[in-house]
Amino acid sequence: DLSPIDKAKFVAAKRAVDLIEDRMTVGLGTGSTAAWMVRCLAERVREEGLRVTGVPTSRRTAELARQLGVPITTLDDAKWLDMTIDGADEFDPALNLIKGGGAALLQEKIVATASDQMVVIADAAKEVTQLGAFPLPVEVIPFGWQTTKALVEEMLVAMDVMNRDVTLRMNGEAPLVTDEANYILDLHLKRIGNPRQLAMVLNQIPGVVENGLFIDICDIVVIGHGDGRVVLRD
Ligand code: A5P
Repeated sequence: DLSPIDKAKFVAAKRAVDLIEDRMTVGLGTGSTAAWMVRCLAERVREEGLRVTGVPTSRRTAELARQLGVPITTLDDAKWLDMTIDGADEFDPALNLIKGGGAALLQEKIVATASDQMVVIADAAKEVTQLGAFPLPVEVIPFGWQTTKALVEEMLVAMDVMNRDVTLRMNGEAPLVTDEANYILDLHLKRIGNPRQLAMVLNQIPGVVENGLFIDICDIVVIGHGDGRVVLRD
């Protein structure tokens, strides 16, 4: 028996996995919802003999896929993908996203951008009218990260952003280190007035590798509800 939140994640994941066709190459997202997707996909591989090649977006997801018997390859081998299925921390009415709560935003954005279609799976609580209540993750190079943080803060001042607390994501006593050996800054902005502009400006700052705003990348959101209902948004 699943809790309502797990049920919501599961039904969204299952519906998205139904979109996968034989011989597709599929980007495998990261996070608890994406983990449900990998389980549902493994079931189709087992039961139907569905032939898929997965491209994982993190070491965690690669490990899960391996354990469950979902064939995987690297992005360099796949080069182009038919579809990516991934979770999100927030999505807005334009289907723009905040991702990176699981610190995998860099590989996630590269893989999603290399896909014909990005399908986001989410429980209904991830739907917002305006992005930003969820802190925006920004991946930065460890070298000079404090200088990079100061530059990010200056940029937020210059953009007249009211709430602009920036914190280094920690893993216990030490900075959290991503799969790509970088750090994560979390930008506590409360509301993001112009996500497109912010995404562009952030990536201009030396030391910033990528930010968690996914603009014009997502094509469909599959929204799961705790009672088992699924709603598609595109
Ligand atoms: C991983 O870096 C994130 O982008 C995840 O997609 C996001 O945190 C969603 O995770 P959950 O499905 O666990 O909410």
